Amino acid sequence: MSRIDAGLSGQFAIGGDITINRLGFGAMRITGPGIWGPPEDPAAALALLRRLPEIGIDFIDTADSYGPDVSEELIREALHPYDGLTIATKAGLTRSGPGQWSPKGDPDYLIAQARGSLARLGVEQIALWQLHRIDPEVPRDEQFAAVRQLLDEGVIRHAGLSEVSVAEIEAAQQVFPVATVQNRYNLTDRGSRDVLAYCEEHGIGFIPWFPLAAGDLAKPGGIVSQIAAAHGASPGQVALAWLLQKSPMILPIPGTGSLAHLEENAAAADLTLSPQEIVELETAA
Ligand SMILES: NC(=O)c1ccc[n+]([C@@H]2O[C@H](COP(=O)([O-])OP(=O)(O)OC[C@H]3O[C@@H](n4cnc5c(N)ncnc54)[C@H](OP(=O)(O)O)[C@@H]3O)[C@@H](O)[C@H]2O)c1
Repeated sequence: MSRIDAGLSGQFAIGGDITINRLGFGAMRITGPGIWGPPEDPAAALALLRRLPEIGIDFIDTADSYGPDVSEELIREALHPYDGLTIATKAGLTRSGPGQWSPKGDPDYLIAQARGSLARLGVEQIALWQLHRIDPEVPRDEQFAAVRQLLDEGVIRHAGLSEVSVAEIEAAQQVFPVATVQNRYNLTDRGSRDVLAYCEEHGIGFIPWFPLAAGDLAKPGGIVSQIAAAHGASPGQVALAWLLQKSPMILPIPGTGSLAHLEENAAAADLTLSPQEIVELETAA
């Protein structure tokens, strides 16, 4: 296992029409600490982003709230006009300081934020826009209607949801086609397995965030590190390979601010776990 090529992860067509390599990049951690303000080394962040297409990563996940604005602005500075790249963004969480996040789902706010992302990214249409959270203080159908309006007006091409239940996806599907769902999911946290099953059944891309939280399993001597050693790989690569093999609908977006980690993560697309290893990993988790 040595090739650094995310294209080896296979492909997925978002909404049936935008084909991406399944192993993408989460651009949350290219901002300052606490996902707040500019990064300590903006030149390094730009270099990291410019490396993505060179190693086969053509799908980047960001949000208006990462910085806020900083992540989208860096992506534009590094990669515009995005030849062959798909940039997915989100709105629905506001920021009041480092590490602080609050849902905000007023329809007018969501629409204004999507238009803001359009301008910051410098695109005519956002390929994939995701409702970052369903705001419990606002009727969900009003939030879904805002998404429908963004689709109808062509501001966004496809729409997705984040941190949702099967019932919420079904409710949203009454209003607009749900192209993707982004829920927390990894080897040690499979609480969203019912959502993944629903996505598989309905052709919805499943974007697991926090994909590298190998947690206790990554401890020296644990099963992840044993399997990693057998492949000459790292525990993080095993966690990513497990996600890629778990379902063809899974689109992992590991995040990093480090060029070395980025390349290591991309190389996970070249790691194949045996059925026996997958059973061992899941049993231990
Ligand atoms: N929808 C949502 O609510 C939501 C919430 C959170 C995140 N997200 C999205 O999901 C993406 C990924 O989530 P995440 O960043 O929280 O989790 P993650 O990708 O599982 O983990 C990122 C952490 O792992 C470290 N890391 C990455 N590659 C590594 C490697 N090869 N070896 C060792 N450490 C490594 C990073 O540190 P270094 O920088 O030092 O590498 C960082 O601290 C985000 O970028 C964002 O786009 C979505």
